[in-house]
Amino acid sequence: MQRLEMIRPDDWHLHLRDGEALKAVVGHTARQFARAIVMPNLKPPVTTVALAEAYQQRILAALPADTQFQPLMTLYLTSETTPEEVHRAAQSDAVHAIKLYPAGATTNSEAGVKSLEALAPVLAAMQEVDLPLLIHGESTDPKSDVFDRETLFIENTLGQIVKEFPELRIVFEHITTKKAVDFVLAAPGNVAATITPQHLLLNRNAIFKGGIRPHHYCLPILKREEDRQALVAAATSGNPKFFLGTDSAPHERGTKESPCGCAGIYSAHAAIELYAEAFEDAGAIDKLEGFASLHGPDFYKLPRNTEKVILEKREQTIPASFPFSSGTVVPMRGGETIRWTFARSVAT
Ligand code: NCD
Ligand code: ZN
Repeated sequence: MQRLEMIRPDDWHLHLRDGEALKAVVGHTARQFARAIVMPNLKPPVTTVALAEAYQQRILAALPADTQFQPLMTLYLTSETTPEEVHRAAQSDAVHAIKLYPAGATTNSEAGVKSLEALAPVLAAMQEVDLPLLIHGESTDPKSDVFDRETLFIENTLGQIVKEFPELRIVFEHITTKKAVDFVLAAPGNVAATITPQHLLLNRNAIFKGGIRPHHYCLPILKREEDRQALVAAATSGNPKFFLGTDSAPHERGTKESPCGCAGIYSAHAAIELYAEAFEDAGAIDKLEGFASLHGPDFYKLPRNTEKVILEKREQTIPASFPFSSGTVVPMRGGETIRWTFARSVAT
């Protein structure tokens, strides 16, 4: 049996929710990952350091007993965010970045940003204190084609942010297109990107295979096969600009299997195994550790993990659903068999 020993990975883009939902999912992430960047799109959003610290405490309280998992918190950028809050965030041990959601782009983004011009002083403060800006990069023009929204955001907004704030560390979150890969490659070293397992393993046909598949609906939406291939090439290239961010986004089953279903794919139950499959398919399993465990901490200027974990090339069957809040969540590959299994930590 093939075994893969690697430094324990981190998840640089995660949705943990709150309350009962948080308790239901956090153990999956804590079992595999040492740390995770926790997204702030709660209702109401996590907009201040005080709210982020309180949310971090709720996450720590919801963790299983035997874990060292560290939630790294983010603030939700709104038109009310001030440079003073940016300074408070930079001084806080809890907060590691600020997330920009264009208003209306995705789940719970109603409070997001409508005008970037007004936020120039906030972005300037972030650049000054070297606090990373995480971007959900999609145009929110309702007339734009849903498959073009990432490209339109690059052309109309992202290029300008990078130009106007040349030293600002930026993570272009969950990139989905060849255009986005090319943009990140051409940008300076302070611009990086996360890539999800679903965008490495699936193209948009998966949303319509034999009928409509709500559990394959996420934002940004899955794209063409040529885009998927460009993402795989980027993730497996060894380039430190690309690192792991699952965007694991649990929604209760009924809210996805609905006439107006929520966006989000749940992958935390088998995240590293799903990435292992994508890397193995590309003949690049040796590049997984850099992507999953090294490039992220280097970009965030945090220490690399020292503990090691073992993945085994041994099949596992994914449950059709997991308990979630008052119902269930359907995980990625639910009811199917996958090739890799997260075995254990290496005793040190
Ligand atoms: C995320 C969620 O449900 O919070 N959904 C998704 O489809 N990815 C929000 C997001 O990251 O866009
Ligand atoms: Zn997300």
